Amino acid sequence: MSEKATLNIHGKSYEFDVITGTENETCIDIQQLRAESGIITMDPGFGNTGSCYSSITYVDGAKGILKYRGYPIEEIAEKASFTETAYLVLYGELPTPQQLREFSSRLREHAPLHTNLEHHFSGFPKEAPPMAILSAMLNLVSCFHPEVLEVPTTGEQFDRTASLLLSKVRTIAAFAYRMASGKPINHPNPNLSYCGNFLHMMFSDPYQEYEVSPVVDKALNLFLVLHADHEQNCSTSTVRVVGSSRANLFSSVAAGVCALWGPLHGGANAAVIAMLEDIKDSGRPLNHYLDRAKDKDDQFKLMGFGHRVYKNFDPRSLILKNQVHEVLKALNIQDGLLDVALELEEATLKDDYFVSRNLYPNVDFYSGILLRAIGIPLNMYTVMFAIGRMPGWIANWKELHDHKQRISRPRQIYTGETTRPFIPLMER
Ligand code: ACO
Repeated sequence: MSEKATLNIHGKSYEFDVITGTENETCIDIQQLRAESGIITMDPGFGNTGSCYSSITYVDGAKGILKYRGYPIEEIAEKASFTETAYLVLYGELPTPQQLREFSSRLREHAPLHTNLEHHFSGFPKEAPPMAILSAMLNLVSCFHPEVLEVPTTGEQFDRTASLLLSKVRTIAAFAYRMASGKPINHPNPNLSYCGNFLHMMFSDPYQEYEVSPVVDKALNLFLVLHADHEQNCSTSTVRVVGSSRANLFSSVAAGVCALWGPLHGGANAAVIAMLEDIKDSGRPLNHYLDRAKDKDDQFKLMGFGHRVYKNFDPRSLILKNQVHEVLKALNIQDGLLDVALELEEATLKDDYFVSRNLYPNVDFYSGILLRAIGIPLNMYTVMFAIGRMPGWIANWKELHDHKQRISRPRQIYTGETTRPFIPLMER
């Protein structure tokens, strides 16, 4: 007999199924609570609410474990390219050599943008944030490929649409950067790898083809691999909420981009660099920043620290920290921001405020230093996160449809005025 949880309230007793996942995570299925009792549960920020069943990514925040489709992130980070990881996240299995070739060739095929779409980039003001451009252009892309608006979640049409999106997001990102920098766009080169092509579109000049160094290619692959999915975070939940109305894949991920933009989520990677630069340039002692972060009357937080789920350490931050050391050494770069970052991490590890609240560096803490080392401009950091997260968003959108999930529609407890008489304007 399956285990049951009992709730006693207002003199009545209600029973609910207890459900256990494959990694022994347990939940109480309260779907019938309101129908049976008229009572709802309250969980602002959804810190304690499961919104779906998923077989894509597993996170154990207490132990610092992250797996995509059952494979530990440490192994994937060491052995897989971003393209291979994207295939795994999307389809649930590692690709055979033949499947990977076909997938890569679809990505190459879809890299160019429709010529009329290219003109739209010049309509954005020069200072337009690349995340705004990315979100807008993702919706626009679908207008040039109307067949993607009605996409099944399996079969040839899904394969085509998923690879079109994965490929074009990279071209849009690079074009947005070129336009904003007043530089001519570089069209994709079908002979280059996923990351090599992105770097070429970002950095080649008319008279000088960008030469992709293996160190930079590896670092970019790793960055994207580490961002490929992270279960029901703010942006992925947004993709699912939007997709639950049966909105198309492109509008759903465009909404995901907007959710990711905020500094408490993906926007933290750029905010970390701004914070480290401020610490370095101001000459103020680290304690000044630690004290501000602890002060509840001060809006300041240590960016790149803390996580809703990880209460031990974020395994991605450990991998990135090692990679930063490796890349700086290989490229012979001295970056004073790394010294500041290391000192800051060390100081927090000795500080009871951070230790008692389990505030450790998250994925965004060292990723900015890595992106800086490989020449990615600061205003593109969160866009890089969005490119990396695309496989996860698509896989979650697909899974939502495969599971025929109901439209997302939370409840609330109303705290406003009760019924009162309307007073006509002249009498007020
Ligand atoms: N600096 C100082 N104090 C912090 C920080 C921080 N970075 N993060 C959390 N705290 C404190 C809170 O003030 C709170 O203190 P209290 O218990 O005395 O009230 C306690 O730690 C718990 O934090 P919550 O805000 O409840 O944690 P929550 O899960 O809601 O937020 C979040 C998580 C948004 C990541 C938060 O830690 C934060 O703002 N960090 C900085 C921004 C950041 O790095 N975001 C990227 C996250 S990773 C990602 O999205 C890809």
